[in-house]
Amino acid sequence: MIKHIETCFSPMLFQLFEKQGRLIVVADIFRATSSICAAFGNGAKEIIAVSEKSECLKYKEKGYIVAGEREGKILDYADMGNSPDDFLTPEIKGKSIVLNTTNGTRTIRIASEYNNPVVIGAFINLGALTEYIIKENKHVLIFCSGWKDHFSLEDSLFAGALANEILIKSNDRYYTKCDATHAAMDIWKAAKNNPRKYIDKAAHRSRLKYMKLDNVIDYCMKISTVNVIPVLKNNRLINSNETLIN
Ligand code: MLT
Repeated sequence: MIKHIETCFSPMLFQLFEKQGRLIVVADIFRATSSICAAFGNGAKEIIAVSEKSECLKYKEKGYIVAGEREGKILDYADMGNSPDDFLTPEIKGKSIVLNTTNGTRTIRIASEYNNPVVIGAFINLGALTEYIIKENKHVLIFCSGWKDHFSLEDSLFAGALANEILIKSNDRYYTKCDATHAAMDIWKAAKNNPRKYIDKAAHRSRLKYMKLDNVIDYCMKISTVNVIPVLKNNRLINSNETLIN
C-alpha cells in the first residue's frame, strides 16, 4: 500500500492528527534534535529526554550527566547546555545523558504517548533518516517542535526537506495530500539552494544570536553529516544505526 506523509507544525495541532500506523519523526532543528544526533554520532549510549525540570533534577541526584536549557540558557544544575558542541566531547562516548529543553524534549514526550514508533530528525541525519523511513515503509507524521507552540521556520524547512527526499527516493511508494507538507516543501524549494542563508531570518536564530549561541547554526544546517537513527525504546533514545556511526 502506498504510504502517506503528513506534517504537524506545532504541538498544539498534534491532537488533530491520526496516529494509527504512523512513524512519528520529531524535529527541533535549533537545537535539541540536532544535538541528539550529534551525541549519537559521537558514540553516546542513550539519551533520556525529560520534559520537566523536577524529573531532570532527580536523574542528576542519581549521578547522571544532565544537559538542558530553558529559553536557551543552561539550567543551573545541568552539566552542560543544549548545543551540539556540548555533545561532541570525548566524555559523551558510551554515556547515558539526560536532556531537558524548552520545546524539543516536550515534543518527544508528547510523541511518546501514543505507542507509535518515534524517530529523531535533523538536517544532519537527513540522508540516513530518509533511507530508514523508506525501509520501515510506514505512514509518516513529521512533528515540528516549533517555539512554545508557535510555527518555526527551521523545523518546517526541515519537514519540507525530509518530505521532498522521501518522495524523490521512494519510487512512488509515498505520496502526500497534506497541505502542511506541501507548504513545507514549498519553503524548502525556496531555500534549498542555500538553506544556511535562508534560515538567517528565523526567530530562534535571532534568539541564539542574542545569547551568543549562534555559532551552532552552521553545524545544524549541514545536511547528512551523521549516519545516526535515534529511536525511542522504553522511553529512552538509542541509536538504531550503531554500525554506521561516523
Ligand atoms: C528547545 O528544545 O526548545 C530548543 O532546543 C531550544 C534551544 O536549546 O535552543
